[in-house]
Amino acid sequence: MTAIDAAAHYGRCSIFTATAKINGHEDHAAAKPENGGGHVIIAVVGDTHGNMAWVCNSVIPYAVEQGAEKLVQVGDFGFVGMGPHQDMRLQRLTDALDAAGIDLHFLPGNHEDHAQLALMAEAAPLSPDGHYQLTPRIFYTGRVASWEWDGVPMAAVGGAVSIDREWCQQQEREYGLKSWWPEEILSLVEIDDAKAIGPVDILFSHDAPADFPIDGLIPDLDSAANRQVMTDIGRALTPRIWRHGHYHRRLTYQFHHDRGDCKVIALDCDGSTPEGNVSILDLATVGAAA
Ligand SMILES: [Fe+2]
Repeated sequence: MTAIDAAAHYGRCSIFTATAKINGHEDHAAAKPENGGGHVIIAVVGDTHGNMAWVCNSVIPYAVEQGAEKLVQVGDFGFVGMGPHQDMRLQRLTDALDAAGIDLHFLPGNHEDHAQLALMAEAAPLSPDGHYQLTPRIFYTGRVASWEWDGVPMAAVGGAVSIDREWCQQQEREYGLKSWWPEEILSLVEIDDAKAIGPVDILFSHDAPADFPIDGLIPDLDSAANRQVMTDIGRALTPRIWRHGHYHRRLTYQFHHDRGDCKVIALDCDGSTPEGNVSILDLATVGAAA
């Protein structure tokens, strides 16, 4: 599969009907940060699906313009495995990140080459954050992870359900194009590990909680069950701020837990707009529940 084929294929993974209606309100306001205090500004990036042109020409320039020094990509990264030329693509992305002076940390979505990710993680050195360093600028958080930047506790929880898994499996049978892995959702042990992280200020995930306020989802019991798992994890981690991808829509809503309300932003995907695909998080404002 060529990169163009891959982009076309993974672009079809929307889980909405054509008439999907958003109940939550859009939040395209990405305030220009003022990074005068040495704190970390993170550009949180929704699904990128291995779209090199998008990341290099839209995401990275926007993140730099906003003063970000780290990208956190919330799954369906798509640059590991997923077809030929992986090393060349990772190198090209690393070069673009290096030119911008920015590191990228990603968690796994559903449309990832989970087998290849596991292999690369096994061989990779760990960063001080406990992330797998795949290249000098690209870090894989692992499927469930927690760490701190600037003293702010945060967690990453990967995985979601591909509602197009039967189509993916058919493609594999007919054309040998593997694009679905059963490891796309967390194991029971990993779910328990995620819940055991304890309170964090920021949660990054690929999937959304069950009360994701959007109509038009194609009914899928497995997908609904995974959103309920994310609700349970969210209630255990009680974040103030939650960013997720997977649904290819940008909207803001509230998630309620024992520590209070959490502002959740769902991120749009590659090919939308930088303001839709990227959310800026200034860690200096986290205490005020940015
Ligand atoms: Fe996804």
